[in-house]
Amino acid sequence: MNTKRAKDFTKICTDGWLQGWHERNGGNLSYRMRTEEVEEIRNLLNEDAEYRDIDGQVPALANEYFMVTGSGKYMRNVSLDFEDSVAVIHLNEDGSKYKIVYGLVNGGRPTSELSSHLMNLEVLKRRDDGLRVVYHAHPANTIALTFVLPLDEEVFTRELWEMLMECAVVFPQGVGLVEWTVPGGKEIGLKTAEIMKSRNVAVWAHHGMFVCGHDFDEAFGLMQTVEKAAEILVKVMSITDRKRNTIPPQGFRDIAQTYDLEIDEKYLYEKNSDIIGER
Ligand code: 13P
Ligand code: ZN
Repeated sequence: MNTKRAKDFTKICTDGWLQGWHERNGGNLSYRMRTEEVEEIRNLLNEDAEYRDIDGQVPALANEYFMVTGSGKYMRNVSLDFEDSVAVIHLNEDGSKYKIVYGLVNGGRPTSELSSHLMNLEVLKRRDDGLRVVYHAHPANTIALTFVLPLDEEVFTRELWEMLMECAVVFPQGVGLVEWTVPGGKEIGLKTAEIMKSRNVAVWAHHGMFVCGHDFDEAFGLMQTVEKAAEILVKVMSITDRKRNTIPPQGFRDIAQTYDLEIDEKYLYEKNSDIIGER
């Protein structure tokens, strides 16, 4: 497929692969297509395909088209064989079924995380119609932190923010956490979508991360910023379990004022301990 969106979609898959976030078939990507983008490829679509059940229902996305990676497909192969790795799917009139109208030419089905992607995209559509990209990856440092930090969204967010000043600017709503849950179904999809109602990042403990964006660059940049902060924290924690210096709560209030951001005070609790991960 030779469209701008197909190229953007392919680029993030390659970029994520180059970051080391997509071992084997790890990670997946979805994009809620605009009407004019569907019209652009109308002659490539096979509307006779059969509808199949989605695990869950997304009525607000009824009759829409999505570009999604295939289950078991490798992100590193998207640039080499787009038609084999990616599908365009269409949802039926009540958002309970999908059909593959393009791609996955050698067989297969959309990502096993389709429920999570669609439930997230539905919540995001209600929140802001422009939020059309949902990206899942397995970045190692963020995953590592889910074994050692308390699975407390306030603590997790605060520790990341302190590592990289940019974090409070890039994800001022903070990071949501999903405790260990079996992936690939409705349950983890519902938990993630709950986070996406108000935030752009959901960390899945001991598994990976989901982010959203208005476009592919924004989603990729968000994933990279969280992971960079996590990498710095992993480095710090490999030296010591406590900080000698850090950005104080007032520092974040000043950042919020300078960049005209709304930062939730719940992340700016006064610490009684200098041990990383303790309040
Ligand atoms: P899929 O190959 O089905 O997309 O699964 C990869 C993954 O990361 C599951 O969480
Ligand atoms: Zn995964």
